[in-house]
Amino acid sequence: MERFVIPHQHEITKEDRRRLNGHGSLILWFTGLPSSGKSTLANELEKELIQRNHRTYILDGDNVRMGLCKDLGFSAEDREENIRRIGEVSKLFMDAGVLVLSAFVSPYRADRDAIRELVEEGEFIEVFVDCSVEQCEQRDVKGLYKKAREGVIKGFTGIDDPYEEPSNPEIVVDTEKHSIEECKQQILDYLIARDAVNMG
Ligand code: ADX
Repeated sequence: MERFVIPHQHEITKEDRRRLNGHGSLILWFTGLPSSGKSTLANELEKELIQRNHRTYILDGDNVRMGLCKDLGFSAEDREENIRRIGEVSKLFMDAGVLVLSAFVSPYRADRDAIRELVEEGEFIEVFVDCSVEQCEQRDVKGLYKKAREGVIKGFTGIDDPYEEPSNPEIVVDTEKHSIEECKQQILDYLIARDAVNMG
């Protein structure tokens, strides 16, 4: 398909919006097995950031799959398209000056790396939410591991579909060894050290 699309250069930039907000904007990308604690962690972190007057937004697997990505399933191609769309949406929110918290299984390394490539250096913070399959299965927050074991769900990440761990994530939080509170603090410390938030 031949396309004639010429982007318009708007005068107000991401930097203008960041200045207005009084804090930086970036994408915190939570990746990990189902039930590893991605959404819980994003939720706790968002509460703390909002309390301290930061503009945030959470994009979450199950929620986005109710709307923007409701036409997608869990084949490798569909997961790739799911992550591609979320990556683009995350970038738009970041451009709007928001601290974006994206929580998706995002099991394939190449798909996550593609988002890193989409934005400028330092704007994509990969947070590997590390937790063993055994522990995630024990938690089984939504009862889906059980369904996968029974064969009701096929191609479930961690059971009969692969999860590729990040090779060089900015942050690794271990939700098996540490509490959600500790993991949240670990991420906050990183953001403070990076000067991405104002916790003073
Ligand atoms: S991703 O693989 O495309 O990144 P996403 O994060 O959007 O996945 O959605 C994962 C959520 O969908 C899980 O938390 C779980 O509740 C549900 N789900 C349903 N089927 C599957 C499956 N086959 N594999 C993983 N998660 C699934």
